[in-house]
Amino acid sequence: MRAYIWSLPTRVFHMMFAAFILTAYFSGDEDKLSTLHVSFGYAIGILVIYRIIWGFVGPSYSRFSDFSLHVKELKESVLNIFNHKKYAGHNPAASFVMITMFAVVLLTVITGILTYGIQEGRGILSFLNTPYFKEMKLFKEIHEFFSTFLMVLVALHVSGVIFERVMDKETDTLGSIVNGHKNIDAPSVTLNLFQKIFSLLALGAAMDVLLYSLFFNSVLTRSHYSPISYQKENSAFVAECGSCHTLYPPSLLPRASWSKMMDNLEDHFGEDASLDEATRVSIKEYLMKNSAESSTKESAFYILESIKGNQDIIAITQTPYWKKRHAEIDKSIFSRNEIKSKANCKACHSDIEKGMIEDMNIKIPKIKA
Ligand code: HEC
Ligand code: HEC
Repeated sequence: MRAYIWSLPTRVFHMMFAAFILTAYFSGDEDKLSTLHVSFGYAIGILVIYRIIWGFVGPSYSRFSDFSLHVKELKESVLNIFNHKKYAGHNPAASFVMITMFAVVLLTVITGILTYGIQEGRGILSFLNTPYFKEMKLFKEIHEFFSTFLMVLVALHVSGVIFERVMDKETDTLGSIVNGHKNIDAPSVTLNLFQKIFSLLALGAAMDVLLYSLFFNSVLTRSHYSPISYQKENSAFVAECGSCHTLYPPSLLPRASWSKMMDNLEDHFGEDASLDEATRVSIKEYLMKNSAESSTKESAFYILESIKGNQDIIAITQTPYWKKRHAEIDKSIFSRNEIKSKANCKACHSDIEKGMIEDMNIKIPKIKA
C-alpha cells in the first residue's frame, strides 16, 4: 500500500534546509563570502523556528509527538537492526538525530549571530561588539563547535537514509523525500488551510530574509563602525604618513610599536621620514591614542593577541596575525606591478585609508594586459 507521509511544505522545508545549511557551512571560512554566509544563516534560523512550530501544529508524521523518543524503542530497533519494525514517520534513531539536529541548528544560528555582532560589529547584535569584543574568540569557537557537530549529525542522517535504502528498498524512504510517498500500510496525511497558509508564510519569509540580507545593506548585515576621516582627525598624519605608502590605520599596531617607530623616523625602513618636533609629537600622540588597545575591531584584537609579549614589531606585515591572514596569497602576487609590496595594503583593501577593512572591499588587482 502506498501512503502520503511527507506533505509538500515538509518536503520543501527539507530541501531548503539541506541546501542552505550546506551553503552556509562551505562559505563559513571565506571572508569574502561573509555576507552570503550570514544571509543563509538568518534564513536557516527562520527555517528551524518554522520546523519547531511545525512539530506542534503540522500533520501527524511531522509532529514531535509522532517521533519515537524512547530509549527502549531505540534499543530495540538497534538490536533488530536487520529486521526492525517499520515506522511511517521517523524511526527511533532518526527521531533522536532529528531532535538533536534542530537544537544544534538553533544553537549554531544563535552563536553565529552573536559572533557576527561581537567579532565583526555587524548584524542585529552589532551593539554587543563594544561591551564584549574581548570575548570574540570564545564566541567564534563555540559557533564553530556547533557547526562541526551539525555536520556530524548530517553525516549520521545521510548514512541512515542510505542504510534504509540498502536494507529496505521496498518502502522507498529515499523517494519519499521527493514525492512524499512511502510504500507502507499507514494513513496518509492531509493539510488543513491553516497549515497551508502558515507554511507558505514561513517558507516565504525564509526566502525573503535571505534575499533581503544578501542584496540590501540593512540592519541584518550593517556594520556599526563608520568610516574614519583621518584628514579631519589629524591632517598632519595624512600629509606626512600617507605620502610614501598606504595610510595605515593606527588601530593596526599597539601603542608600544607606534612609540618605537615615531622615536626613530630618521631610519624608517631604510628611509628618512623625519619630521619637525611639533608635528612628530602630534602624530605620535594621535597614533598612540588610537592604537590597537583602544579599538574593538577584529583586526586590532587579533593583531594584539598575536604579538603578545613581542611588541618590538613595528610593521603590521610582521605580525603573526597579518601573516596568517595572507598566508594563502601567493608571494608572486605581492610583486605584481599593480601591488609591488605587501605593505601596499590599499591595492587590495580599497577602504583601508578610512580605517575599515571590510570583507566585501577586499579585491586582489588583476594583472593588466
Ligand atoms: C619617505 C617615505 C616614507 C614616509 C614619509 C613614511 N614612511 Fe612609513 N614606510 C616607508 C617605507 C619605504 C616602508 C617599507 C614599506 C615596505 O615594506 O614595502 C614603510 C613602512 C611603514 C610601516 C610598516 C608597513 C608594514 O610593512 O606593515 C608603517 C606602519 C609605517 N611605514 C608608518 C609610517 C608612519 C606612521 C609615517 C608617518 C609618521 C610614515 N610611515 C611615513 C616610507 C615612508
Ligand atoms: C595582494 C592583496 C593584499 C594586500 C597587498 C594586503 N591584503 Fe590584507 N587581505 C587580502 C585578502 C585576499 C584577505 C582575505 C583573506 C581571507 O579571506 O582570509 C585579506 C585579509 C586581511 C585582514 C583580515 C580581514 C578582517 O576581516 O579583519 C586584515 C586585517 C588585512 N588583510 C590587513 C592588511 C594590511 C594592514 C595590509 C597592508 C599592510 C594588507 N592587508 C595587504 C589581500 C591583501
